[in-house]
Amino acid sequence: MKTYTCIIVGSGIAAMQLAHHLNSQCSVLVITKSLKQASNSYRAQGGIAAAVGNGDKPAFHYEDTIRAGCDFHNHQEVRLLVEKGPELIQQLTVSGLDFDQDDTGQIALGMEGAHGRKRIVHCGGDATGKHIMDHLLSSLTSNIEVVENRFVYELIVHPVSKKCIGIKAKDADGNNEIYFADHVVLAMGGVGGLFSFSSNDPSVTGDGVALAYRAGAELMDMEFIQFHPTLLYLNGKTAGLVSEAVRGEGGRLVDETGRSVMAGKHLLEDLAPRHIVAKELFQQRMAGKDVYLDISMIDHFEDKFPTITALCQANGLSLEKQRIPVAPGCHFLMGGIVVDAVGQTSIEGLYAIGETASTGVHGANRLASNSLLEGLYYGQQLASHLNERLVANEIKCDMDFAPTTPWVTVPSLPDKQELREKMMTYAGIIRTSSDLEQLANWLHQYNQWEMPLDEWDTDTIQRLFMLQTAKLITTAAQLRTESRGAHNREDFPEENQRWGHIHIVQSKKGIEMRERQHEYHQIEIYA
Ligand code: SIN
Repeated sequence: MKTYTCIIVGSGIAAMQLAHHLNSQCSVLVITKSLKQASNSYRAQGGIAAAVGNGDKPAFHYEDTIRAGCDFHNHQEVRLLVEKGPELIQQLTVSGLDFDQDDTGQIALGMEGAHGRKRIVHCGGDATGKHIMDHLLSSLTSNIEVVENRFVYELIVHPVSKKCIGIKAKDADGNNEIYFADHVVLAMGGVGGLFSFSSNDPSVTGDGVALAYRAGAELMDMEFIQFHPTLLYLNGKTAGLVSEAVRGEGGRLVDETGRSVMAGKHLLEDLAPRHIVAKELFQQRMAGKDVYLDISMIDHFEDKFPTITALCQANGLSLEKQRIPVAPGCHFLMGGIVVDAVGQTSIEGLYAIGETASTGVHGANRLASNSLLEGLYYGQQLASHLNERLVANEIKCDMDFAPTTPWVTVPSLPDKQELREKMMTYAGIIRTSSDLEQLANWLHQYNQWEMPLDEWDTDTIQRLFMLQTAKLITTAAQLRTESRGAHNREDFPEENQRWGHIHIVQSKKGIEMRERQHEYHQIEIYA
């Protein structure tokens, strides 16, 4: 058994920013399910939104964030996030990260959906995530140990103090390991891998949500899941993200005949908020129509978008015709583990940051390129908080771990792909009460949630966690009988003022309709 000041589960931008800013006296373990580069942050094509341009202000960024997310935010947190944006960009620049520049030597600014002006900073064109993550990974100090290919399957909560004091993990051969820490942080990304069409790294399957739930933490707003309109779509499958920045550079969504798909559908047309574009494209697909991203108007596409060019090439798609077939797929979880302003969850000693956490900064639909910003901001916030609370390791290992559980027969659980297809079909872009009920009934048959996991293999636990997270999403989507942002109910197509005041909070104790603490303003959405 090993003991650390801080264990960080996950290796995306929030995790690495936290590790980076923790006091160097801390012993830090970064533990990750796959390789350290296997994260959504590493894959990010869009950049970081920050009010750094001439004439831009955090207040404008704030307004766009609130509008895109249908004013379902924690306003105070959004304010702090956007105000800190320029400083976070400056910090990265000073630490040696080169953001793309324009001809005058200023940081080049890109445009994405629902932003009122150009405000997205990039590195290497559409390879922003890779550049930032390589930069952060290369500057880790010697007090930080990174352990890869470990599947964390349980949070250890002390039975008397109720504090989270460590984790249990399985190594690549299935051996059990135990690690203790004063502070345990979940930075494990979202839930994209629960859906058959997804932009996410395949390792991102909602484990953080399931772990926290099983340990007794609260989860909130699990119904709010963003679907990105443009994933490369070939042979009935999606094959990776085609950044919104392509539309920011003039790319247009067209049908087979070249007619614009978004014209007349929204004031901002191709750059309308994501939920609106995704819904339109989904309806086109459902009607049997193909949709393409016309890139003919973008000069030097290959130079501007090297990652997308490589993605198309790897999938055998020639860009000669200047049309990329696209379809929407799961992209980002706006809800997650309930946290306060520094990432503290409802369990002492347990924290959550990044997409895993529900901070309230995204409302019902995240504004493009606010997620890397969120990771940077909350990674740093939590580091400052923990740096003031560093104590010599106080963990008293008075728990008896062996033998913890008798052997239990492993139940039969569904195949991962079957679950992904069910989620996409019944809890995807457009939801109905009958679809969600069908899904809930299917999930209900796998009623194995409480069994001890020590003896199970990683793949089985993984499937159980996916089911658990799917159940939380489905329950919340059933309960929210309105459409708001990314949560689209065909049978309740309008926003409902009453629901605008309510968060759906789930925990082992049950479901709570929690009154929102923040003033609700009915914002008129563009169309
Ligand atoms: C994109 O590049 O379109 C995605 C950016 C984001 O999700 O913020």
